[in-house]
Amino acid sequence: MPSATPESTSPRIVLGVAGGIAAYKSVTLLRQLRDANYFVSPILTPDATRFVGEVTFSALASEPARTSLYGDPTTPIPHTYLGQHADLIVVAPATAHLIARYAMGLADDLLTATLLASRAPVLLCPAMHTEMWEQPSVQENLATLRRRGVMILEPEVGPLAGGDAGTGRLVEPERIAAMVDAIVRGYRGPLSGRRLLITAGGTREPIDPVRVLTNRSSGRQGYALAEVASRLGAHVTLVSTVDLPLALDVVRSVELVKVMTAHEMHEAVLSRASQTDAVIMAAAVADFTVTPVDQKLKKDSGVPNLSFQPTMDILRELVDARPTGQIIVGFAAETTNVAEHALAKLRAKGVDLLVVNDVSAPGAGFDHITNAVSILDRSEEVQNLPLSSKEAISEVILSRVASLLSQGAP
Ligand code: CTP
Repeated sequence: MPSATPESTSPRIVLGVAGGIAAYKSVTLLRQLRDANYFVSPILTPDATRFVGEVTFSALASEPARTSLYGDPTTPIPHTYLGQHADLIVVAPATAHLIARYAMGLADDLLTATLLASRAPVLLCPAMHTEMWEQPSVQENLATLRRRGVMILEPEVGPLAGGDAGTGRLVEPERIAAMVDAIVRGYRGPLSGRRLLITAGGTREPIDPVRVLTNRSSGRQGYALAEVASRLGAHVTLVSTVDLPLALDVVRSVELVKVMTAHEMHEAVLSRASQTDAVIMAAAVADFTVTPVDQKLKKDSGVPNLSFQPTMDILRELVDARPTGQIIVGFAAETTNVAEHALAKLRAKGVDLLVVNDVSAPGAGFDHITNAVSILDRSEEVQNLPLSSKEAISEVILSRVASLLSQGAP
């Protein structure tokens, strides 16, 4: 029998399951959360019960699964009871329909009513077909929810139902369970106590009061690194040219320093780097800048005669000023002879790891939510990472950083 009063001191998780094929994976998630000693109360939407059985969830959970606002023998108002007692609400999978209803503030079933009747943090794990995921309506609903502090664990790239492949695959249950640990128990990971400086975005060099010289970097890889590093226990300083939303669970451990130009990034990085254990230069820094003019350049004055000056190479200066034991990671964006240029850059830059992006490859590099990179280390070993989410790439880079840090001084 479900209990209307919390019986245990275990953190209480409401596990919402919406109607998508990935619902079968939430059975594994439920199992893992129970193994980690969480009190788990499942809520299945009516559509979810077409994919997975209520009985399965009831058998594995801390109390029987619920599917309706009505007819609960323990309480006439299950949504407020569940919402008020939850330490976290996880929805996996979150379908496009569930996301839309939540963003709209609808409460037409037990799961959406519980989401509305709660002040607990919410983690949504979307899963759907790529075409649905890419719909502006879905992305706008997610942006709305993010703005309100809802955490989103973005879907992976991989095989989807019906033989397709693309972005939309539910994040593996292990990663969701690790995220739950990070949020609820403040689990400190392998970067615990470490200070990391990470740069993100493309620098912008003013030409006149209205025009800038920039590049196509979105800053997403740098932000993903900052979020994942923070979840692994690091205190992160993020020097960024862009302002992207940071997940609620990491906002407090990421210090954001906004800059615009290569010069400002140089100042911000070099003045802070010596107090950090690792620096990751994911930003696309301009190699050249121009001296801006005070007044807008007028078309009638003809083609402007811009004179370029080289910027300072931040990475090179970091390597030259490196304190003992500090790990330095560089990025390289290439479009041709990727392997050859990468090796030359690794040798020239003196970094511990060089993350190489073929920015001309489909789905990789600028403006994509996915990336495919190779990681080169000092012994010139190459680790190729296939197309994956920027979070998954960040996990690999940061686990390499954590292991280098644990080995001591380079
Ligand atoms: N970088 C830097 N300061 C600069 C330019 C780049 O710190 N003024 C860093 C980037 O953040 C990145 C690495 O250097 O981590 C490599 O950047 P990339 O532009 O690929 O290489 P460059 O050395 O600038 O060479 P090229 O543009 O000729 O390929």
